[in-house]
Amino acid sequence: MRFPEDVPVLTDGVVTLRAHTPADVEPAYEMCQDADMQHWTTIPVPYEREHAVAFVTEFVAAGWRDGGSWTWAIDYDGRFAGSIDLRGGDGNGGEIGFGLAPWARGNRVMTRAIQLTLTYAFNTLGWDRVGWRAFGGNWASRKAVWNCGFRRFQIVTGGVVVRGVRRDEWLASITRDEDREPQGNWWTIPVIEGDGFRLRPLEDRDIERTTEACADERTQHWLSAMPSPYTAEHAKGFIETRREFAATGSGVSWAIADAGDDRLLGNVSVFDMTHRVDHTLGEIGYWAHPDARGRGVMTAAVALVIRQAFTPIDKGGLGRRRLVLLANEPNSASRHIAEANGFTQVGVQRATAPLRDGSYDNLVMYDLLATEVAL
Ligand SMILES: CC(C)(COP(=O)(O)OP(=O)(O)OC[C@H]1O[C@@H](n2cnc3c(N)ncnc32)[C@H](O)[C@@H]1OP(=O)(O)O)[C@@H](O)C(=O)NCCC(=O)NCCS
Repeated sequence: MRFPEDVPVLTDGVVTLRAHTPADVEPAYEMCQDADMQHWTTIPVPYEREHAVAFVTEFVAAGWRDGGSWTWAIDYDGRFAGSIDLRGGDGNGGEIGFGLAPWARGNRVMTRAIQLTLTYAFNTLGWDRVGWRAFGGNWASRKAVWNCGFRRFQIVTGGVVVRGVRRDEWLASITRDEDREPQGNWWTIPVIEGDGFRLRPLEDRDIERTTEACADERTQHWLSAMPSPYTAEHAKGFIETRREFAATGSGVSWAIADAGDDRLLGNVSVFDMTHRVDHTLGEIGYWAHPDARGRGVMTAAVALVIRQAFTPIDKGGLGRRRLVLLANEPNSASRHIAEANGFTQVGVQRATAPLRDGSYDNLVMYDLLATEVAL
Protein backbone atom coordinates (compact mmCIF):
# COMPACT_ATOMS: atom_id res chain seq x y z
CA MET A 1 0.00 0.00 0.00
CA ARG A 2 1.07 3.59 -0.49
CA PHE A 3 1.52 5.80 2.54
CA PRO A 4 -0.35 7.96 3.35
CA GLU A 5 -2.66 7.86 0.31
CA ASP A 6 -3.97 4.32 0.81
CA VAL A 7 -4.48 4.49 4.56
CA PRO A 8 -8.24 4.18 5.11
CA VAL A 9 -10.00 6.71 7.31
CA LEU A 10 -12.19 4.89 9.84
CA THR A 11 -14.72 6.79 11.92
CA ASP A 12 -17.78 6.26 14.10
CA GLY A 13 -18.56 9.98 14.19
CA VAL A 14 -16.81 10.57 17.53
CA VAL A 15 -13.40 9.01 17.00
CA THR A 16 -11.54 9.07 13.67
CA LEU A 17 -8.60 6.86 12.72
CA ARG A 18 -6.41 8.30 9.95
CA ALA A 19 -2.86 8.27 8.57
CA HIS A 20 -0.20 9.93 10.72
CA THR A 21 1.25 13.24 9.48
CA PRO A 22 4.41 15.12 10.54
CA ALA A 23 2.15 17.40 12.62
CA ASP A 24 1.59 14.41 14.95
CA VAL A 25 5.24 14.32 16.02
CA GLU A 26 4.90 16.96 18.72
CA PRO A 27 1.71 15.62 20.40
CA ALA A 28 3.03 12.03 20.10
CA TYR A 29 6.25 13.13 21.82
CA GLU A 30 4.25 14.82 24.58
CA MET A 31 2.00 11.80 25.04
CA CYS A 32 5.02 9.56 25.50
CA GLN A 33 6.33 11.67 28.39
CA ASP A 34 3.37 10.42 30.44
CA ALA A 35 4.35 8.09 33.28
CA ASP A 36 1.53 5.60 32.52
CA MET A 37 2.51 5.49 28.86
CA GLN A 38 6.08 4.64 29.88
CA HIS A 39 5.04 2.15 32.55
CA TRP A 40 2.52 0.20 30.48
CA THR A 41 4.14 0.14 27.03
CA THR A 42 7.51 -0.75 25.52
CA ILE A 43 8.34 2.75 24.23
CA PRO A 44 11.95 3.87 24.84
CA VAL A 45 12.60 5.61 28.18
CA PRO A 46 13.65 8.39 28.25
CA TYR A 47 11.49 9.18 25.23
CA GLU A 48 13.23 11.73 23.01
CA ARG A 49 11.82 13.86 20.19
CA GLU A 50 13.72 11.78 17.61
CA HIS A 51 11.84 8.69 18.79
CA ALA A 52 8.57 10.40 17.87
CA VAL A 53 10.01 11.52 14.52
CA ALA A 54 11.18 8.00 13.67
CA PHE A 55 7.84 6.50 14.78
CA VAL A 56 5.65 8.87 12.79
CA THR A 57 7.74 9.26 9.64
CA GLU A 58 9.51 5.89 9.34
CA PHE A 59 7.99 3.06 11.39
CA VAL A 60 4.34 3.80 10.66
CA ALA A 61 4.93 4.43 6.95
CA ALA A 62 7.02 1.26 6.55
CA GLY A 63 4.31 -0.82 8.18
CA TRP A 64 1.68 0.28 5.66
CA ARG A 65 4.05 0.01 2.69
CA ASP A 66 5.49 -3.39 3.51
CA GLY A 67 2.58 -4.92 5.45
CA GLY A 68 3.08 -6.44 8.89
CA SER A 69 1.81 -3.43 10.85
CA TRP A 70 -1.12 -1.09 10.34
CA THR A 71 -0.99 2.00 12.56
CA TRP A 72 -3.48 4.85 12.72
CA ALA A 73 -3.47 8.21 14.43
CA ILE A 74 -6.55 8.68 16.60
CA ASP A 75 -8.37 12.02 16.34
CA TYR A 76 -10.75 12.96 19.11
CA ASP A 77 -12.27 16.35 19.86
CA GLY A 78 -10.62 17.74 16.73
CA ARG A 79 -7.01 16.81 17.51
CA PHE A 80 -4.45 14.03 17.73
CA ALA A 81 -5.23 11.91 20.79
CA GLY A 82 -3.08 8.78 20.34
CA SER A 83 -2.25 5.79 18.16
CA ILE A 84 -3.62 2.32 17.59
CA ASP A 85 -2.14 -0.50 15.56
CA LEU A 86 -2.58 -4.01 14.28
CA ARG A 87 0.49 -6.11 13.80
CA GLY A 88 1.20 -9.60 12.52
CA GLY A 89 -0.99 -11.13 9.87
CA ASP A 90 0.59 -14.56 9.60
CA GLY A 91 -1.97 -17.34 9.82
CA ASN A 92 -4.81 -14.82 9.48
CA GLY A 93 -4.29 -13.29 12.88
CA GLY A 94 -2.39 -10.67 14.74
CA GLU A 95 -2.34 -8.35 17.73
CA ILE A 96 -3.71 -4.98 18.67
CA GLY A 97 -1.76 -2.27 20.49
CA PHE A 98 -2.65 1.30 21.53
CA GLY A 99 -1.86 4.37 23.59
CA LEU A 100 -3.86 7.50 24.35
CA ALA A 101 -2.84 10.96 25.55
CA PRO A 102 -3.78 11.53 29.20
CA TRP A 103 -6.20 14.37 28.40
CA ALA A 104 -8.37 12.04 26.28
CA ARG A 105 -8.59 9.10 28.70
CA GLY A 106 -11.73 7.97 30.48
CA ASN A 107 -14.11 8.90 27.63
CA ARG A 108 -14.28 5.52 25.95
CA VAL A 109 -12.12 6.86 23.13
CA MET A 110 -9.99 3.73 23.03
CA THR A 111 -13.03 1.46 23.22
CA ARG A 112 -14.31 3.18 20.08
CA ALA A 113 -10.91 3.03 18.37
CA ILE A 114 -10.57 -0.69 19.14
CA GLN A 115 -14.01 -1.38 17.66
CA LEU A 116 -13.08 0.42 14.43
CA THR A 117 -9.78 -1.41 14.25
CA LEU A 118 -11.38 -4.81 14.82
CA THR A 119 -13.78 -4.17 11.94
CA TYR A 120 -10.78 -3.46 9.72
CA ALA A 121 -8.92 -6.56 10.94
CA PHE A 122 -11.83 -8.92 10.37
CA ASN A 123 -13.50 -7.35 7.32
CA THR A 124 -10.60 -5.90 5.34
CA LEU A 125 -7.50 -7.83 6.37
CA GLY A 126 -9.59 -10.99 6.63
CA TRP A 127 -8.14 -11.99 9.98
CA ASP A 128 -9.76 -14.71 12.08
CA ARG A 129 -8.27 -13.69 15.40
CA VAL A 130 -7.00 -10.56 17.16
CA GLY A 131 -4.94 -10.95 20.31
CA TRP A 132 -4.19 -8.47 23.10
CA ARG A 133 -1.20 -8.47 25.40
CA ALA A 134 -0.55 -6.12 28.29
CA PHE A 135 1.60 -5.97 31.37
CA GLY A 136 -0.19 -7.43 34.40
CA GLY A 137 -2.12 -4.74 36.27
CA ASN A 138 -3.04 -2.56 33.28
CA TRP A 139 -6.70 -2.37 34.21
CA ALA A 140 -7.57 0.54 31.87
CA SER A 141 -6.26 -1.38 28.86
CA ARG A 142 -7.99 -4.58 29.97
CA LYS A 143 -11.31 -2.78 30.47
CA ALA A 144 -11.08 -1.15 27.04
CA VAL A 145 -10.62 -4.50 25.24
CA TRP A 146 -13.17 -6.20 27.54
CA ASN A 147 -15.66 -3.50 26.46
CA CYS A 148 -15.15 -4.75 22.89
CA GLY A 149 -15.76 -8.44 23.59
CA PHE A 150 -12.22 -9.71 24.18
CA ARG A 151 -12.29 -12.86 26.31
CA ARG A 152 -10.13 -15.75 27.57
CA PHE A 153 -8.20 -13.42 29.87
CA GLN A 154 -5.13 -15.16 31.20
CA ILE A 155 -2.08 -14.25 33.20
CA VAL A 156 1.41 -15.48 32.44
CA THR A 157 3.34 -14.90 35.63
CA GLY A 158 6.69 -13.30 34.86
CA GLY A 159 5.94 -13.85 31.18
CA VAL A 160 7.68 -10.82 29.72
CA VAL A 161 10.85 -8.77 30.18
CA VAL A 162 10.72 -5.05 29.53
CA ARG A 163 13.71 -2.77 29.90
CA GLY A 164 15.47 -5.52 31.81
CA VAL A 165 12.66 -6.11 34.31
CA ARG A 166 10.57 -9.28 34.31
CA ARG A 167 6.83 -8.62 34.61
CA ASP A 168 3.55 -10.50 34.46
CA GLU A 169 1.80 -10.58 31.13
CA TRP A 170 -1.95 -10.55 30.48
CA LEU A 171 -3.42 -12.12 27.37
CA ALA A 172 -6.86 -12.15 25.76
CA SER A 173 -8.31 -12.53 22.29
CA ILE A 174 -11.37 -12.24 20.11
CA THR A 175 -12.20 -14.17 16.97
CA ARG A 176 -14.11 -13.10 13.90
CA ASP A 177 -17.37 -14.83 14.84
CA GLU A 178 -17.50 -13.72 18.46
CA ASP A 179 -19.74 -10.81 19.37
CA ARG A 180 -18.09 -7.56 20.27
CA GLU A 181 -19.99 -7.04 23.50
CA PRO A 182 -18.64 -7.29 27.06
CA GLN A 183 -18.66 -10.87 28.31
CA GLY A 184 -20.10 -11.35 31.81
CA ASN A 185 -20.19 -8.74 34.56
CA TRP A 186 -17.31 -6.44 35.48
CA TRP A 187 -18.53 -5.17 38.80
CA THR A 188 -17.86 -1.60 39.75
CA ILE A 189 -17.52 -1.10 43.48
CA PRO A 190 -19.72 1.73 44.71
CA VAL A 191 -18.93 3.81 47.77
CA ILE A 192 -21.68 3.20 50.34
CA GLU A 193 -21.96 5.47 53.39
CA GLY A 194 -22.62 3.86 56.77
CA ASP A 195 -22.88 5.18 60.32
CA GLY A 196 -19.30 6.18 61.18
CA PHE A 197 -17.79 4.21 58.31
CA ARG A 198 -17.98 3.91 54.56
CA LEU A 199 -17.65 0.98 52.21
CA ARG A 200 -15.22 1.75 49.39
CA PRO A 201 -12.88 -0.14 47.05
CA LEU A 202 -9.75 -1.62 48.62
CA GLU A 203 -6.67 0.43 47.73
CA ASP A 204 -2.96 -0.17 48.00
CA ARG A 205 -2.92 2.23 50.97
CA ASP A 206 -4.84 -0.48 52.89
CA ILE A 207 -1.91 -2.92 52.73
CA GLU A 208 -0.57 -2.18 56.21
CA ARG A 209 -3.92 -2.46 58.02
CA THR A 210 -4.85 -5.54 55.96
CA THR A 211 -1.61 -7.16 57.06
CA GLU A 212 -2.34 -6.34 60.72
CA ALA A 213 -5.90 -7.64 60.47
CA CYS A 214 -5.00 -10.89 58.72
CA ALA A 215 -1.92 -11.61 60.84
CA ASP A 216 -4.10 -11.24 63.98
CA GLU A 217 -4.44 -14.36 66.08
CA ARG A 218 -8.24 -14.59 65.91
CA THR A 219 -8.34 -14.02 62.14
CA GLN A 220 -5.67 -16.67 61.71
CA HIS A 221 -7.63 -19.08 63.90
CA TRP A 222 -11.01 -18.80 62.17
CA LEU A 223 -9.73 -18.31 58.62
CA SER A 224 -7.26 -21.13 58.58
CA ALA A 225 -6.59 -20.88 54.85
CA MET A 226 -4.90 -17.49 55.42
CA PRO A 227 -1.14 -17.67 54.83
CA SER A 228 0.88 -17.83 58.01
CA PRO A 229 2.92 -15.81 58.78
CA TYR A 230 0.85 -13.19 56.92
CA THR A 231 2.98 -10.50 55.28
CA ALA A 232 2.49 -7.24 53.40
CA GLU A 233 3.12 -9.18 50.16
CA HIS A 234 0.10 -11.35 50.97
CA ALA A 235 -1.99 -8.24 51.61
CA LYS A 236 -0.89 -6.73 48.29
CA GLY A 237 -1.80 -9.97 46.50
CA PHE A 238 -5.14 -10.09 48.35
CA ILE A 239 -6.08 -6.60 47.17
CA GLU A 240 -5.02 -7.31 43.58
CA THR A 241 -7.02 -10.55 43.44
CA ARG A 242 -10.13 -8.67 44.63
CA ARG A 243 -9.73 -6.51 41.49
CA GLU A 244 -9.51 -9.70 39.45
CA PHE A 245 -12.69 -11.01 41.11
CA ALA A 246 -14.56 -7.81 40.19
CA ALA A 247 -13.29 -7.92 36.60
CA THR A 248 -14.38 -11.53 36.11
CA GLY A 249 -17.75 -11.04 37.80
CA SER A 250 -17.03 -13.51 40.57
CA GLY A 251 -16.83 -11.19 43.57
CA VAL A 252 -17.08 -7.71 45.00
CA SER A 253 -14.97 -6.78 47.98
CA TRP A 254 -15.17 -3.58 49.99
CA ALA A 255 -12.87 -1.92 52.43
CA ILE A 256 -14.77 -0.86 55.52
CA ALA A 257 -13.11 2.50 56.15
CA ASP A 258 -13.45 4.88 59.09
CA ALA A 259 -15.62 7.84 58.04
CA GLY A 260 -13.25 10.24 59.76
CA ASP A 261 -9.69 9.22 58.89
CA ASP A 262 -10.39 6.56 56.23
CA ARG A 263 -8.34 3.90 58.03
CA LEU A 264 -9.25 0.33 57.19
CA LEU A 265 -11.58 -1.20 59.79
CA GLY A 266 -12.23 -4.42 57.94
CA ASN A 267 -13.21 -6.15 54.74
CA VAL A 268 -16.55 -7.46 53.54
CA SER A 269 -17.13 -9.35 50.29
CA VAL A 270 -19.77 -11.02 48.20
CA PHE A 271 -18.11 -13.83 46.29
CA ASP A 272 -18.87 -17.05 44.38
CA MET A 273 -21.12 -15.02 42.05
CA THR A 274 -20.14 -17.09 39.03
CA HIS A 275 -21.20 -20.30 40.77
CA ARG A 276 -21.21 -23.30 38.43
CA VAL A 277 -24.98 -23.67 38.25
CA ASP A 278 -26.53 -20.68 40.05
CA HIS A 279 -25.46 -17.25 38.79
CA THR A 280 -27.83 -15.55 41.23
CA LEU A 281 -25.97 -16.84 44.28
CA GLY A 282 -23.48 -14.97 46.44
CA GLU A 283 -21.55 -15.84 49.57
CA ILE A 284 -20.75 -13.21 52.16
CA GLY A 285 -17.38 -13.20 53.88
CA TYR A 286 -15.62 -10.73 56.19
CA TRP A 287 -12.88 -10.00 58.65
CA ALA A 288 -12.38 -7.02 60.98
CA HIS A 289 -9.22 -5.32 62.14
CA PRO A 290 -8.71 -6.12 65.86
CA ASP A 291 -9.12 -2.46 66.90
CA ALA A 292 -12.47 -2.23 65.11
CA ARG A 293 -14.12 -5.25 66.76
CA GLY A 294 -16.85 -5.31 69.36
CA ARG A 295 -18.76 -2.17 68.34
CA GLY A 296 -21.18 -3.43 65.71
CA VAL A 297 -19.30 -2.15 62.66
CA MET A 298 -19.34 -5.48 60.84
CA THR A 299 -23.03 -6.12 61.54
CA ALA A 300 -23.84 -2.71 60.05
CA ALA A 301 -21.46 -3.19 57.11
CA VAL A 302 -23.01 -6.57 56.25
CA ALA A 303 -26.49 -4.97 56.37
CA LEU A 304 -25.42 -2.48 53.69
CA VAL A 305 -23.83 -5.21 51.59
CA ILE A 306 -27.01 -7.32 51.76
CA ARG A 307 -29.01 -4.40 50.32
CA GLN A 308 -26.45 -3.90 47.58
CA ALA A 309 -26.38 -7.62 46.80
CA PHE A 310 -30.16 -7.90 46.45
CA THR A 311 -30.58 -4.70 44.42
CA PRO A 312 -31.17 -5.55 40.74
CA ILE A 313 -28.23 -5.11 38.37
CA ASP A 314 -30.07 -2.49 36.31
CA LYS A 315 -30.48 -0.44 39.49
CA GLY A 316 -26.76 -0.59 40.24
CA GLY A 317 -26.78 -3.64 42.52
CA LEU A 318 -25.46 -7.17 42.26
CA GLY A 319 -28.75 -8.81 41.31
CA ARG A 320 -28.44 -11.67 43.81
CA ARG A 321 -31.38 -13.92 44.66
CA ARG A 322 -29.83 -15.90 47.50
CA LEU A 323 -26.95 -15.19 49.85
CA VAL A 324 -25.15 -17.76 51.95
CA LEU A 325 -22.85 -17.30 54.90
CA LEU A 326 -20.69 -19.95 56.54
CA ALA A 327 -19.25 -19.72 60.05
CA ASN A 328 -17.33 -22.16 62.22
CA GLU A 329 -19.76 -23.43 64.88
CA PRO A 330 -17.78 -22.02 67.83
CA ASN A 331 -17.27 -18.62 66.14
CA SER A 332 -20.03 -16.83 68.05
CA ALA A 333 -19.02 -13.32 66.89
CA SER A 334 -19.38 -14.28 63.23
CA ARG A 335 -22.64 -16.18 63.82
CA HIS A 336 -24.03 -13.15 65.62
CA ILE A 337 -23.46 -11.02 62.50
CA ALA A 338 -25.38 -13.54 60.36
CA GLU A 339 -28.26 -13.82 62.83
CA ALA A 340 -28.48 -10.07 63.51
CA ASN A 341 -28.87 -9.59 59.76
CA GLY A 342 -31.78 -12.01 59.41
CA PHE A 343 -29.95 -15.03 57.99
CA THR A 344 -31.58 -18.40 58.66
CA GLN A 345 -29.48 -21.31 59.83
CA VAL A 346 -30.11 -24.04 57.27
CA GLY A 347 -27.67 -26.70 58.28
CA VAL A 348 -24.47 -27.80 59.88
CA GLN A 349 -21.70 -29.42 57.90
CA ARG A 350 -19.97 -31.72 60.33
CA ALA A 351 -16.20 -31.69 60.87
CA THR A 352 -15.50 -29.76 57.69
CA ALA A 353 -13.59 -26.57 58.54
CA PRO A 354 -9.90 -27.39 59.02
CA LEU A 355 -8.03 -25.76 61.89
CA ARG A 356 -4.29 -25.30 62.05
CA ASP A 357 -3.86 -27.98 64.73
CA GLY A 358 -5.18 -30.64 62.32
CA SER A 359 -8.67 -30.82 63.86
CA TYR A 360 -11.92 -29.85 62.14
CA ASP A 361 -14.78 -27.60 63.26
CA ASN A 362 -18.40 -28.00 62.29
CA LEU A 363 -19.47 -25.32 59.84
CA VAL A 364 -22.84 -23.61 60.31
CA MET A 365 -24.54 -22.67 57.08
CA TYR A 366 -26.91 -19.71 56.86
CA ASP A 367 -28.86 -18.33 53.96
CA LEU A 368 -31.00 -15.33 53.16
CA LEU A 369 -33.34 -14.87 50.21
CA ALA A 370 -34.00 -11.62 48.37
CA THR A 371 -37.72 -12.12 49.05
CA GLU A 372 -37.02 -11.86 52.81
CA VAL A 373 -35.44 -8.41 52.66
CA ALA A 374 -37.26 -5.12 52.10
CA LEU A 375 -35.06 -2.89 49.95
C1 LIG B 1 -5.26 2.05 28.12
C2 LIG B 1 -5.77 3.36 27.53
C3 LIG B 1 -5.48 3.37 26.05
C4 LIG B 1 -7.29 3.45 27.75
O1 LIG B 1 -7.82 4.55 27.02
P1 LIG B 1 -9.29 5.14 27.36
O2 LIG B 1 -9.82 5.89 26.19
O3 LIG B 1 -9.25 5.83 28.68
O4 LIG B 1 -10.10 3.79 27.46
P2 LIG B 1 -11.68 3.63 27.60
O5 LIG B 1 -12.25 4.86 28.24
O6 LIG B 1 -12.22 3.22 26.27
O7 LIG B 1 -11.78 2.37 28.57
C5 LIG B 1 -11.06 2.35 29.76
C6 LIG B 1 -11.94 1.82 30.88
O8 LIG B 1 -11.05 1.42 31.94
C7 LIG B 1 -11.50 1.97 33.16
N1 LIG B 1 -10.35 2.08 34.06
C8 LIG B 1 -9.36 2.98 34.02
N2 LIG B 1 -8.49 2.73 35.02
C9 LIG B 1 -8.96 1.64 35.68
C10 LIG B 1 -8.52 0.89 36.81
N3 LIG B 1 -7.41 1.21 37.47
N4 LIG B 1 -9.27 -0.17 37.23
C11 LIG B 1 -10.40 -0.52 36.57
N5 LIG B 1 -10.86 0.15 35.48
C12 LIG B 1 -10.14 1.22 35.05
C13 LIG B 1 -12.12 3.28 32.75
O9 LIG B 1 -12.98 3.75 33.75
C14 LIG B 1 -12.88 2.83 31.50
O10 LIG B 1 -14.03 2.12 31.94
P3 LIG B 1 -15.46 2.24 31.22
O11 LIG B 1 -15.31 1.58 29.92
O12 LIG B 1 -16.39 1.50 32.13
O13 LIG B 1 -15.77 3.69 31.07
C15 LIG B 1 -5.10 4.59 28.20
O14 LIG B 1 -5.31 4.52 29.60
C16 LIG B 1 -3.59 4.67 27.95
O15 LIG B 1 -3.15 5.18 26.94
N6 LIG B 1 -2.77 4.13 28.90
C17 LIG B 1 -1.31 4.15 28.74
C18 LIG B 1 -0.84 3.30 27.56
C19 LIG B 1 -1.35 1.88 27.62
O16 LIG B 1 -1.57 1.33 28.68
N7 LIG B 1 -1.56 1.27 26.44
C20 LIG B 1 -2.04 -0.09 26.35
C21 LIG B 1 -0.93 -1.04 26.49
S1 LIG B 1 -1.51 -2.71 26.47
